[in-house]
Amino acid sequence: MDFRLKNFNLSFFNNDVNNSGDMQQKFALWAEYRAEITALLDDATNKDTKNILVLGAGKCNDIDLHYLCSRFARIVLSDVDIKSIEDGMRMQGVSDGDRKKIELLEMDYTGLAEAGFFNQLESMIQQKSSANAFVSYIESSIQNIHVCDDIACDNAHFDVVLSCPVYTQLMYTQSEIFLQILNQYQLYTAKDLQKMDHAFIKSMSQVVRHYNALMMSMVSDDGVVIMLTDIIEIIRSEELHNTIGNLLDSQPLDVCLIEKHITKHGLAFAKNGREDWLEKADVITTEYILWPFNDYKSYLVYGAVGKKKSIG
Ligand SMILES: C[S@@+](CC[C@H](N)C(=O)[O-])C[C@H]1O[C@@H](n2cnc3c(N)ncnc32)[C@H](O)[C@@H]1O
Repeated sequence: MDFRLKNFNLSFFNNDVNNSGDMQQKFALWAEYRAEITALLDDATNKDTKNILVLGAGKCNDIDLHYLCSRFARIVLSDVDIKSIEDGMRMQGVSDGDRKKIELLEMDYTGLAEAGFFNQLESMIQQKSSANAFVSYIESSIQNIHVCDDIACDNAHFDVVLSCPVYTQLMYTQSEIFLQILNQYQLYTAKDLQKMDHAFIKSMSQVVRHYNALMMSMVSDDGVVIMLTDIIEIIRSEELHNTIGNLLDSQPLDVCLIEKHITKHGLAFAKNGREDWLEKADVITTEYILWPFNDYKSYLVYGAVGKKKSIG
C-alpha cells in the first residue's frame, strides 16, 4: 500500500485541532479565563503601550478583542491558522472600525513547514528508509530550523508580545498523529516507531527554545512579553482538579506547593518552554490561572510578564 499523508499541512492540521468542540460553548466556558488574561495584560501595560502582537491567537477564545481594540492602536494577531482568527473576530463581533486596527500575520513558529519537514518524512517512508535514517533526518532538520527572518524583522519591536499557550502545540502534536498513521500502515516495527517518537520528543527542547527566541526577537527593548503556558492537564473528574482549584483559591498562594504539583504532574514541553523563557527574560510578575478547557479537562496555566533580558 502506498503511504500518503492527507490534509497534513500545518495550517490544515491546526485548523482541524482548533475546530474541535463547540466554539460558542468554548467561548462561554473560557469567559473567566479570558477576563484573567485581560487583567494580566492590563496590569502589564501603560498609556505608552501602543501596539501588541499576539502569538497563537487561534480562535481568539482567550483574548478579548474588544479590549484589545479599545486599548491599542495597532493589533497584530498571528497564528499558522488564519481561518480560525477570522472565525474568532466574527464570533466576537469586531466592528468594521476596529477591524481596521487589526492585522493578521500568518506564521509558522517552527520553520518546519517551509523546510517541507513532513513532506520529506512522507517521501522517506515511500522510499522505505530505515528508522535510523528517520532519526538522523528529524534531529538534523530540527537543529537547522529557522523562521523566515524577514517576517520577524518586518514586524519586530512590539510594545507587547502576548504568547497564548503554544509550547505544547508545536510540532509534537502533529508528530504523534504522524506516528499513529504510520502505525496503521504497519510498515515499521513498534521498536522503530518508538525510536522515531523518541527523536521527536528529544527535538522538542530545540523547538521551544527556538520559539522563545522568536518571541523575544519581536518585542522592543522597553516592551513587555507575556508568556502563558498550559503546564498541567487536569481531568475534571479527578481529585487533582479539586486540589489545584483549592490551592488557587487560597490566600496567600502556596506557590511552593503549586510548584511541587507542576514538578510531579507538569507537561514536559511546557516545563521546558518555561525554563528556557525564564532564562531569556527579566521577570516582572508571575501568575497561576485555571483554564476550564472543556467538560472533560482543565489546564493549570502559568503566566509570566517580563522584559527581554538586558545583555551584560
Ligand atoms: C492552544 S491554542 C491557543 C488558544 C487560542 N488562542 C484560542 O483561543 O483558541 C495554540 C495555537 O497555536 C497555533 N499553532 C500551533 N502550532 C503552530 C505553529 N507551528 N506556528 C504557528 N502557530 C501554531 C495553533 O493553530 C493554535 O491556534
